[in-house]
Amino acid sequence: LVNTKSLDIEGFEFYLDKAMKIITNYLKNISIEPVVPKIDFYQLTDLLDCDIPMESTDMDKLFDEIEGNVVANCTKIGHPRFLAWLLTSPSPAGILGEFLNVGLSQVPASFKSAPSETILEDTVIKWFAEIFGYESGYGGSLTSGGTMANMTCLAAAREKHFPGAMKKGIHGVQKPPVLYVSDQGHGCIERAASMLGFGSEAVKRVPTDSSFRIRIDSLVQQIYKDRDEGLAPFCVVAQVGSSNTGSIDPLVELANICKENGLWLHADAAYGGAAILTDEGREMLKGIQYADSIATDPHKWFFTPVEAGCCLVKNRRYLFDTFKTKDANLEDETATDYLNYGVQFTRASRAFKIWFAFRVYGLNTIAQVVKQNILLAREFAERLEKDGKWEVVAPVELSAVCFRYKDNQKKNLDSSVQDKIVKFVEESGEAFLTLAVLKGQTIIRACFTNHRTSSKDIDIIIDLLSKAIPKNI
Ligand SMILES: Cc1ncc(COP(=O)(O)O)c(C=O)c1O
Repeated sequence: LVNTKSLDIEGFEFYLDKAMKIITNYLKNISIEPVVPKIDFYQLTDLLDCDIPMESTDMDKLFDEIEGNVVANCTKIGHPRFLAWLLTSPSPAGILGEFLNVGLSQVPASFKSAPSETILEDTVIKWFAEIFGYESGYGGSLTSGGTMANMTCLAAAREKHFPGAMKKGIHGVQKPPVLYVSDQGHGCIERAASMLGFGSEAVKRVPTDSSFRIRIDSLVQQIYKDRDEGLAPFCVVAQVGSSNTGSIDPLVELANICKENGLWLHADAAYGGAAILTDEGREMLKGIQYADSIATDPHKWFFTPVEAGCCLVKNRRYLFDTFKTKDANLEDETATDYLNYGVQFTRASRAFKIWFAFRVYGLNTIAQVVKQNILLAREFAERLEKDGKWEVVAPVELSAVCFRYKDNQKKNLDSSVQDKIVKFVEESGEAFLTLAVLKGQTIIRACFTNHRTSSKDIDIIIDLLSKAIPKNI
C-alpha cells in the first residue's frame, strides 16, 4: 500500500482569515503609505531572496515575512495619487471576486471543466458586446490583458484575410501582408505582428495630426502606395484612447476606408473602451460598433484587478477558425468551449471578478467614476495652465494629461528637467507620475484612472510639482 500524503494544511481557515486581514489592512492604509516604496533592488533582494525551501517553513514566520517585507514593499497602485502609466486602482469588489475565484480555481477551457464559469464568461462577453454595440454573431474571450486581446483579435483578422493561415502559416502568401496603426499606437501591435508571423516591420506607423489622431490622408496614401508596390494591406488598427494622450482616431472615417478597401478594422480600446459608459464618451467612440474586432481591458478603466483583457470579434467564425482544436466544429457547438477561442488551453477564469464587480457596483456607478476621472483630468490641466509654469502639450480627450515644465526665459529646456521633477515627486512618497516621450519630446504624464482620486489630490500634486522645479536649471 502506498503511504500517501496530501497537501492539505492544518489551520487553513485561520490563515485564510489572516490573509484577509492583510488585504484589509493593505487597503485601509493605501492612502497613507508612500506610493512607491523607498527601497532599492539590492536591499529588497537581501530581504526576500532565500534558499530553495526543501523543508517546511513555519506559517507564522512566513506571514510575518509577508507583512514585513512583501506587503511593505508593494507599489500602492490604488493610492489616490498613483497616476502613473496605465495601471488602474483595482476595485475592492473586484478583489473580493478574485479572492473567491482563486479559491474555486476553475478552468473554463470547456463546459465540462468549468460549467458555471463558462456561462459567466459567456455573460461577460455578452455584456461587453452590448456595451460596444455588437448585435449578434459575435465571439470573444477573456485574456490576460490588452496585449493578448489585441493579438487574439489580429489572429482572427489573419484568418479572414489569409484563410488557412492557422494551419499553413503565411509562407504560401504571395504578397507580403501589411497593417496600419498611428504613431501613437501601443507597441503590443508590433509584438502581435511578429508573433503572428507577419513580422514587426509589417506594421506601418501612420503620422498623426496635432491632436494625435491618425492622419486619414496619410493612411490612404500609404495603402495605395503599398498596393502599388505589391504588398497586401489587410488591417487598420484604430486607437481608442492612445496610451500617451488618450487620443481617439476618427472611427467612422476609418470604418469607411476599411470598407472601401476591403480591410479589417480593429479597435484597440484597451484604455479608452470604458469611456463608452459615459454620455460624452459614447459620442467620442461613435463608430466603434463598425470595427471587425475590439480589444478592451477590464483591468484598466473598468477597475478589475489584474489580469483581465477582453477580445471581441464581430464574426465569431474567424476567431473559432483561428483557435479551434482538431475535432471542433462550430455548427456542433452547444456550450462555448473557450479553448477554441484563444491561445490558452488551461486558463484561469477572468470572468468571475468582472461579473462580480459589475453586479456589485452596477455599470452606472462605474460610469460615474470614469466620468469623474475625465473631469479631474480636465481640472488638473486647467490648474496647470493657470499656474503659468506648465504647458499642457496635448488635448485632454479622456483622462491623460501630458505636460511639461516651461521656463519663459529659457526656451529649450533639456529632458533632464522634467526627469528631475518626476523623481522629486516620486521620492516625496506622496504621489507618482511618470515620464513619456511624445513626438520626440520628454513630457510628464498624469493619467486619471483611479477611483480614489479627488480634487484634494490635485491640490497636493500641484503643490508638489511647484516644489519639484529644480532651483538651478
Ligand atoms: C492602448 C493600449 N493598448 C494595449 C496595451 C497593452 O495592454 P496590457 O498592458 O494590458 O497588455 C496598453 C497598455 O497600457 C494600452 O494602453
